Amino acid sequence: MLELKVNEALCLRQLQPEHAPLVFRQIHTSRKTLRRFLPWVDYNTHEEHSLRFIQLMQRKADDQDAIAFGMWRGEELCGVIDLHNWDHNLQKAEIGYWIGDSFQGKGIVSNSCRALIRFAFKQLRLNKIEIRFVLQNERSAYIPIRLGFSREGILRHSAKLHGQYVDTVVMGMLKGDWKG
Ligand SMILES: CC(C)(COP(=O)(O)OP(=O)(O)OC[C@H]1O[C@@H](n2cnc3c(N)ncnc32)[C@H](O)[C@@H]1OP(=O)(O)O)[C@@H](O)C(=O)NCCC(=O)NCCS
Repeated sequence: MLELKVNEALCLRQLQPEHAPLVFRQIHTSRKTLRRFLPWVDYNTHEEHSLRFIQLMQRKADDQDAIAFGMWRGEELCGVIDLHNWDHNLQKAEIGYWIGDSFQGKGIVSNSCRALIRFAFKQLRLNKIEIRFVLQNERSAYIPIRLGFSREGILRHSAKLHGQYVDTVVMGMLKGDWKG
């Protein structure tokens, strides 16, 4: 199991099947917040669905297509952060994240992103990381801005949220521009 230290209080641990109850509990208790911008939340209604997600991400990790981590504060699983759409030709991947309501507003996601970006540039030898979010998702936007990502553009009607087409913002960080 991959484990990345974020700081004295936080670490990222690659998701394992035994984490499914904790992942599901965070989704379930923060459902109202999470479903606003994450359409899959409405379909994640039982622990079994979180287990299937973790198993899928384990297969993707074996194929070097994605890696999903739990964000841990001590023994508490706060949320999930992942690398996905890993393109080996372009040496690029995207970061996605969500966190439970009671852990928001503490810098846990921004600091976890820092650790994951460091790992991606140094260990995985990626050249570029992207973060994409729905235009209206201001809280998510602050994260790449805080980390110094460049805004690269808007993909119009590139996602669907509760039956409506929505625009997606793409922000990127090149390895050569990362100040760590
Ligand atoms: C988007 C989301 C992950 C942001 O979570 P967050 O807790 O606001 O993000 P951070 O961990 O970076 O915390 C930032 C806040 O912590 C504060 N903070 C405290 N200590 C900090 C530190 N050491 N470092 C950075 N920020 C710190 C910041 O000032 C900021 O406060 P604010 O909320 O008053 O602006 C969260 O709102 C979420 O899960 N939303 C629903 C799912 C979602 O939209 N996911 C993204 C899809 S693209």
